[in-house]
Amino acid sequence: MDAKRWFTLLKKSAIGAVAAATMFGLASPALAAQPPADPSGAQPSVVGGSRAAQGEFPWMVRLSMGCGGALYTNQIVLTAAHCVTRTGANTSITATLGVIDLQSSSAKKVKSTYVYRSPTYDTATGGDWALIKLASPVTGIATLPIASTATYNTGTFTVAGWGAATEGGAQQRYLLKAQVPFVSDATCQAQGGIYSDMIPSAEICAGNLTAGGVDTCQGDSGGPMFRRDNNNAWIQVGIVSYGEGCARPHAPGVYTEVSAVASKIASAASGL
Ligand code: ARG
Repeated sequence: MDAKRWFTLLKKSAIGAVAAATMFGLASPALAAQPPADPSGAQPSVVGGSRAAQGEFPWMVRLSMGCGGALYTNQIVLTAAHCVTRTGANTSITATLGVIDLQSSSAKKVKSTYVYRSPTYDTATGGDWALIKLASPVTGIATLPIASTATYNTGTFTVAGWGAATEGGAQQRYLLKAQVPFVSDATCQAQGGIYSDMIPSAEICAGNLTAGGVDTCQGDSGGPMFRRDNNNAWIQVGIVSYGEGCARPHAPGVYTEVSAVASKIASAASGL
């Protein structure tokens, strides 16, 4: 199977891919190039980052199917459509909140009751986002507001997750974070291959274009990409969606462009 075909499969059936990678630690068959070694010599994270501090990103959520998410309201988690199967009642997902260490005894664990999956995911419109309603509201955990205009779709973003720290690597116990620079739609598409199909109106790219080395990776899907707004508050601009391998040069991460779907997210959430 060539890389492009595998990629398409991963994008279309990422749950299986994520679950398999999570359960068995499988390497992606798309492996071709290894990401460059971390120049700092520090423990790599996400890919090419470092460990987050307890409380640094309080709204980070780990989902039991092997995805990330962000707390959108005290009872709704924003994640990726490709992390869930369909819209409807669903009590099978467990959200772990309030900790950087997934094995911490102080972790809050809450079951899902309902999933809303973007109806335009996997259409030409795009929209890799979904909402997970929790069985009960969580208290004492800050939510992450979403960007509703394109103002913040520029600059340097922060990403975080418990996904693989190297392409094909294991899921992480401790939350990892990294910083990724914005990559314009035109530059992203110009990388060719899968990137020529990116959807400029619904997706936003980020990464170290020429050097690679920093990226989200398998298992980070659904987690937020965020930055500071003009009031120095965190705001979500992206949702981890896909990429070719992880942290490869000329292969930026592709994220759901949150500002482009913010009104749909808000109206779907108000109906949950
Ligand atoms: N689709 C992946 C997942 O299910 C996320 C991949 C992100 N890849 C990247 N190179 N930024 O976890």
